[in-house]
Amino acid sequence: MRLAGKRALVTGGGRGIGQGIVLAFAREGADIAIDYVGNAAAAEQTRAEVEKLGRRVVVVQADVSVPSETQKLIGASLEAFGSLDILVNNAGIERRAPFLEITEKDYRAVIDVDLTGPFFLTQAFVRHLRQTSRPGKIINISSVHEELPFPHFTPYCMAKGGLKMMMRNLAIELGDCGITVNNIAPGAIETPINRNLLNDPRKLSALKANIPMRRLGQTADVAGVAVFLASPAADYVTGATVVVDGGLLWNYSEQ
Ligand code: BGC
Repeated sequence: MRLAGKRALVTGGGRGIGQGIVLAFAREGADIAIDYVGNAAAAEQTRAEVEKLGRRVVVVQADVSVPSETQKLIGASLEAFGSLDILVNNAGIERRAPFLEITEKDYRAVIDVDLTGPFFLTQAFVRHLRQTSRPGKIINISSVHEELPFPHFTPYCMAKGGLKMMMRNLAIELGDCGITVNNIAPGAIETPINRNLLNDPRKLSALKANIPMRRLGQTADVAGVAVFLASPAADYVTGATVVVDGGLLWNYSEQ
């Protein structure tokens, strides 16, 4: 098992990509702190699945968009496990709107969940690692849109682009403590964030036509890379983005 004896905190771990990572980590021997904000039932179901795998699990309700809640989240995880080794900043939201129609409320919600949350949660996590003089692994779930424009999703792209630069900066600042920082950039993955798209056959087939591998990704496609980045096999990998998108990001052809 590649993560035996490790303790991992996964934000938004009750469903979607976060849930896939939680289960993959547990299969590899890690104990898991699951953060969720709204969907208690999904978090509890994920808890049960981790327990079935024989791992310890704690479920914490915390809104990562509020900096004081990120401290509470680290505190509750430490209370349960005593220490943490791996942080996965996975929780994310998106809001579709043309630039001129984006409300301040939606703008702030997206930036706060997708960028401010990872910033302050990572700060609290690194404080813990520093206090205990231990190495650690930080994995941010960003998006192909840390690189690729996505019209009508400007705050989302701003947040993911910001997450890319946060990751690169921290990889340098934290390198001498043995803390690695990397991003996974998923493309179109079948999860609740994509609900509207998945329910619209026309949009879905247009999207698939744009993906060289002609299918959406599954959460397991992302989780496999997260296991690698969290494992000793990736001890010397830091400051990198691993794209998991079936070829979507760099797809260009002339007919
Ligand atoms: C977004 C999805 C989108 C995908 C590919 C993801 O970051 O969350 O809504 O389909 O990128 O564009």
